Amino acid sequence: MEVKTSLLDNMIGVGDMVLLEPLSEDSFLENLKKRFDHNEIYTYIGSVVISMNPYRSLPIYSPEKVEEYRNRNFYELSPHIYALADEAYRSLRDQDKDQCILITGESGSGKTEASKLVMSYVAAVCGKGQEVNKVKEQLLQSNPVLEAFGNAKTVRNDNSSRFGKYMDIEFDFKGDPLGGVISNYLLEKSRVVKQPRGERNFHIFYQLLSGASDDTLKKLKLDRDFSKYNYLSLDSAVVNGLDDATSFRTVKNAMQIVGFMEDEIQSVLELVAAVLKLGNIEFKPESRCNDTDESRVRDKNDLKEMCELLGIEQTVLERAFSYRTVEAKLEKVSTTLNVAQAYYARDALAKNLYSRLFSWLVTRINESIKAQTKSRHKVMGVLDIYGFEIFEDNSFEQFIINYCNEKLQQIFIELTLREEQEEYIREGIEWTNIEYFNNAVICDLIENNQNGIMAMLDEECLRPGTVTDETFLDKLNTVCAEHQHFESRLSKNSKFLNDHSLPHSCFRIQHYAGKVLYCVEGFVDKNNDLLYRDLSQAMFKATHSLIKELFPEGNPSKVNLKRPPTAGSQFKSSVGTLMKNLQTKNPNYIRCIKPNDKKAAHIFTASLVCHQVRYLGLMENVRVRRAGYAFRQPYGPCLERYKMLCKRTWPHWRGPAREGVEVLMADLQVPTEEFSYGRSKIFIRNPRTLFFLEERRRQCLQDLATLIQKIYRGWKCRTHFLLLKKSQVVVAAWYRRYAQQKKYQRIKSATTVVQSYARGWQARKLLRELKHQKRCEEAVTTIAAYWHGTQVRREYRKFFRANAGKKIYNFTIQRIMQKYFLGVKSGLPSMSPVDKNWPARPYRFLDAAHAQLRSIFHLWRCKKYRSQFSEERKAVYQEKLEASELFKDKKSLYPSSVSQPFKGDYLEISKNPKYQKLNSCVEEKVLLADVVNKINRANGKGASRILLLTKKNVVLADQKTGQVKASVALPDLISVSVSTQNDGFFALKLKEGSASAVKGDFLLSSEHLIETITKLHHIGSTASDDGGEQLDINISDEFLVQFKQDKVCVKFIQAAPKNGNSASCKRKNNRLLEVSVPAATA
Ligand SMILES: Nc1ncnc2c1ncn2[C@@H]1O[C@H](COP(=O)(O)OP(=O)(O)O)[C@@H](O)[C@H]1O
Ligand SMILES: [Mg+2]
Repeated sequence: MEVKTSLLDNMIGVGDMVLLEPLSEDSFLENLKKRFDHNEIYTYIGSVVISMNPYRSLPIYSPEKVEEYRNRNFYELSPHIYALADEAYRSLRDQDKDQCILITGESGSGKTEASKLVMSYVAAVCGKGQEVNKVKEQLLQSNPVLEAFGNAKTVRNDNSSRFGKYMDIEFDFKGDPLGGVISNYLLEKSRVVKQPRGERNFHIFYQLLSGASDDTLKKLKLDRDFSKYNYLSLDSAVVNGLDDATSFRTVKNAMQIVGFMEDEIQSVLELVAAVLKLGNIEFKPESRCNDTDESRVRDKNDLKEMCELLGIEQTVLERAFSYRTVEAKLEKVSTTLNVAQAYYARDALAKNLYSRLFSWLVTRINESIKAQTKSRHKVMGVLDIYGFEIFEDNSFEQFIINYCNEKLQQIFIELTLREEQEEYIREGIEWTNIEYFNNAVICDLIENNQNGIMAMLDEECLRPGTVTDETFLDKLNTVCAEHQHFESRLSKNSKFLNDHSLPHSCFRIQHYAGKVLYCVEGFVDKNNDLLYRDLSQAMFKATHSLIKELFPEGNPSKVNLKRPPTAGSQFKSSVGTLMKNLQTKNPNYIRCIKPNDKKAAHIFTASLVCHQVRYLGLMENVRVRRAGYAFRQPYGPCLERYKMLCKRTWPHWRGPAREGVEVLMADLQVPTEEFSYGRSKIFIRNPRTLFFLEERRRQCLQDLATLIQKIYRGWKCRTHFLLLKKSQVVVAAWYRRYAQQKKYQRIKSATTVVQSYARGWQARKLLRELKHQKRCEEAVTTIAAYWHGTQVRREYRKFFRANAGKKIYNFTIQRIMQKYFLGVKSGLPSMSPVDKNWPARPYRFLDAAHAQLRSIFHLWRCKKYRSQFSEERKAVYQEKLEASELFKDKKSLYPSSVSQPFKGDYLEISKNPKYQKLNSCVEEKVLLADVVNKINRANGKGASRILLLTKKNVVLADQKTGQVKASVALPDLISVSVSTQNDGFFALKLKEGSASAVKGDFLLSSEHLIETITKLHHIGSTASDDGGEQLDINISDEFLVQFKQDKVCVKFIQAAPKNGNSASCKRKNNRLLEVSVPAATA
């Protein structure tokens, strides 16, 4: 996309001086300085380019820059010489307008460089092709040739052009170069014979001496040593940054490219050598008889060599330096020359020779580069000429130069105004009169044919009689005194009489660029520019074809008595031609300014620049340019540039650009007098309006930039985010895959582990089984082995010594036991169970067995004893046993009863007739019949009763009568209570409510208490075997007895034995019956 830019973008200061606000010399200089400090060496004044010499190479002439400026509008980019070149070239090519590029400026301000830049730009952008390239090359290579011969080192510029140059480049309809024509103006030929201090002669002399081969030098009879030549200044022969030897080769090469033949080059160099030789010719005076000095060549060697070089007869030349022939009206008068005249003649010859050589070179180059076709060409002229020169000492040359500049200014004004006017007409804008200073009046002062300064000078030169510079000044004083731009001591204005800054021999002209003081000395001579005819004729006689060609007036057959035109009139006419030429062309101006006098970069000497700004008339330029409208711009670019300032035109205006601009201006409320609408352009009267628009635009751009930034950032973030998101998905996918892979791998390895464990387990199990099996098999073998071993050992054990001890032991034990048992057998005690004897044990270890044997023996003895018992005895013993079970250790009476046999029927009831009756009362067999004491319940006194005991009843009967007093069925008897003491009391407790219990319980006392109770218990226990109730035996020292309704407690106490050894019973009270029992005697 092509980016629309403008000169107004990123301006340093203002890029166009027309926009300077306020316009003053100071602001002008300040703007220049500001831009210069920022390496902006180009600034516009409208379409004029101001160029400051940077004195260093800047990176702004690259091929890329050429491309940048190519086909761009003039105001589109920052100021550049390429913009001007492009503009000129394009209007030449596209609009068929011949162009001229006028480059002016002081010496060293960069004119020649600028002209070369323009040419190189045009060469770069125009068509290509073999033929075109050749032409381009020739045009470009004409520069080094002309520079070598026409340039010199001066104090201002190491490569100062010492001639004015105008070059027409011709193009065909396509814009391809066809050729060119060069015109040269006013070569500073005085430099050939004399150079100011610190300056050099023309480059070619030094180049030839340093760069030519020895062979060439020999041919030219030259010596490499500069000091051998009078015409070469020595103090600055070597210049920094200039390589003369290389330049010589470049020049020769350029001459070849331009089309010089080898012999032509040789001839040129011979002429250059001749000039050097000429300078070395010296003269000495020779006295003549008529008291005059005649000059003679001092050392003829140089003369001779020079004549050899040029093919001149030595004597002819020698004579020409000594005599001068003046021809008047077919009369020849020969006068001698004195030494000074001879030197003058020599220098005049050298100057003429060189300047003619230079002109010839230009002509020769023109021949080479001239367009081959006769068809109409488009022309681009490039004028590289000195600008105004205002020195301390201004002479004829400065006068001429400044005249030229006045003329150029004329054209400038004329063309600028014309162009302006044309543009206004074209654009349909009303023409407003422009106020400006017209310098036509100054031009008139100089060039007027009747009373112009130049005409006066010519008149003086042609006037017979003595003519001097002073007479010329007198003439001026009379003729021009009235002129308002002319000042001299004698002019009518008397105030100058007191003006000591104006010397007598000078006059001052008030040029448009400032006042210049001219010294009239040398005016006449320089204007005459005379070369003695003898010398030109001598030159013509040379056999050297080039030198012959250079002095055609020396041809005796064409003797022209008419004086050649003066230098002034020659110049005037060539300037006239030039002006005519320029007027037909579209002018483009480059104004070169030198920032300092030191040829140094980065230094800006304000006073020097100010001086140049003045004499270049730059302020005048700006004023003219600003007279009408300061700024104009086609509607399209204007709308494009400012459309963002109005809502209706932003971002797109659909209609015609002009309407858009109208809407825009209306919207911005720019006062209508500030601008005008042309046909294709808007004209802005004041820079302020433009700056207002620019400022608004700048603000608006910031907002727009923010908007764009915002949208861009949003877009960028979004794309970034989307990218991140996309990447995140990818990463996640990859990560998931990776994680799953890992997991899978883990599971797999876990499976493998589990598998391996399982397999291991299985394998181990199998191994175990197999091992077990193997062990079993081995065990079988082992067992078999052991078995066999056992068998064998068993079989052979008897033979083992280890068994011997045990055997002996067993044997000994057996023997001891045998002896023991035999001893026991023989020593057994009697068979009586009560026999406590038992043999002593022989050995201690037999303790247990001995005791055991003893008890076994005792049991066996008892058993034997028991087996001898009859049934009756057995029953007796059984009762005894029962008694023991009941009472042993419970009642103190018991031990005394043990030895008493249980007789049972103590009364022999069946036999005793006394108890016949009683016996018959009792149905059952009497188990016990005894006498007991029945204790009276009331007083405790006993009454004897017979107690019968059968299997079913307990019967109490009177002892004397045998009458049954009470019969108690055994089932009604629930318990028997006895004491623990040594007494025979016992209480029979009856079942309450039974028939027998009417009178209450019985409290009895018996001699045979143990036997009685035992029998009762025995019957009870046998009865209980048949389903009856067990009889309770209650042994205690206190028990209750039911006496009729009362319950009486029977309490046994120990008492000292009283009457006898029997216990006594005593009723203590209603409730207590106390029985005193004598303590048992042991
Ligand atoms: N545009 C430029 N860039 C760099 N150096 C320049 C430029 N213009 C001039 N110069 C320097 O200034 C010197 C003098 O320039 P020149 O064109 O010969 O001046 P003029 O022709 O005006 O006397 C040059 O030799 C060169 O060193
Ligand atoms: Mg120059």
